[in-house]
Amino acid sequence: MAETRLSVDDLVAPLFVKEGIDEPQPIPSMPGVMQHTQESLRKEVRALADLGIPGVILFGVPARKDAVGSGGDDPDGVVQVALRNLRDEVGDRLVLMADNCLDEYTDHGHCGILTASGPGGVVTVDNDATLERYASIAVAQAGAGADVVAPSGMMDGQVAAIRAALDGSGHSNVAILAYAAKYASALYGPFRDAAECAPKFGDRRAYQMDAGNGREALTEVALDVAEGADMVMVKPALAYLDVIAAVRAAVDVPVAAYHVSGEYAMVQAAAANGWIDGDAVAREHVTAIRRAGADFVLTYFARQLAEQG
Ligand code: PBG
Repeated sequence: MAETRLSVDDLVAPLFVKEGIDEPQPIPSMPGVMQHTQESLRKEVRALADLGIPGVILFGVPARKDAVGSGGDDPDGVVQVALRNLRDEVGDRLVLMADNCLDEYTDHGHCGILTASGPGGVVTVDNDATLERYASIAVAQAGAGADVVAPSGMMDGQVAAIRAALDGSGHSNVAILAYAAKYASALYGPFRDAAECAPKFGDRRAYQMDAGNGREALTEVALDVAEGADMVMVKPALAYLDVIAAVRAAVDVPVAAYHVSGEYAMVQAAAANGWIDGDAVAREHVTAIRRAGADFVLTYFARQLAEQG
C-alpha cells in the first residue's frame, strides 16, 4: 500500500569545500557536516558514490573575498579545483552540481554586485550587473566539469543569462537546476556559518521571496522554465510542502526540494538531547518532502539515510 518510497536515488548531498585549510573543520551548528579540504572532499564523495548517492552539490568557501566575488569564476577557484578533483576521483558515477551564486565569494555577503543609487545613496543589488557575474561563474564551473549549475541568487533573468553563456561557450550539455522558488528564510542560519556568507548588513528580502507568498512561487517557476531551466527547486522544504505540491502540478520538469541547514540543525539538536529519534525523524521528513511532490531532495541527511539503507 506504500505510495511513497524513499530511495538513495532520490538524494543529493550538499557539500562545503574550503580553501587554505589543512584539516576538515566541523560546523558547530550542523553536527556531522564539515567544511572539507580538497582531500577530505574526495574521500567523502567517493564514499557517497559507493553508497549509491547519485549526485552532490558543491559550495565553496574561498580564502579571500572581494566586492565582486572574484573567487567564483577563477579557473583555480575552490569549487573549480574541487570539480576537477572529483571528476578524477569518481568519473561519471555521480552527477556533479555546483551552486552558482556570489554570496560565498563577496566580502559583503550579498548574492550580487552592490550599487548605490537614488538621492540617499541607498545600497541595493544591481540585478543586471550580477547576471554577468553568474554567467561567468557558470562558464568556469562548466569548464571545470560541472554536469549541472544551480543558480541560487534569485536575480531576475538569471536562468536565461546562464543558458546563453553556457551555449555560447560550448557547454550546451550542461544542465541548469534553478533555485526557482527560494524564500527569504530564517532556516539558512547554519548554512551561513558553513559557507561563511552571512550578509554584513541588511538582509536578502529584496531578492528572495516572502514566506507568505504561494502563488508567486508559480510565477517564479514559470519564468525559470521559460528561460530554459532543466529542473526547478523549492527551498526550504518542510514549511513549504504546499508550494512543492503546487509546483509539481504546474510544471513538467523535475522538481527538487532543498531540505535546508536549519531543518537539519533542528533535528540534530533535538536528537542530541534525546528528545526525538533523529534517524526516524530524518526519514519521515524526507519521505514527506517526496510525498508532497519533490522528485529529488537536497539534504544534509543524504549519507545517514543511505547508510540506513
Ligand atoms: C546562497 C545559498 C544559501 C543556501 C543555499 N544557497 C543561503 C542564503 O540564501 O542565504 C542555504 C542552504 C541551507 O540553508 O542549507 N548561495
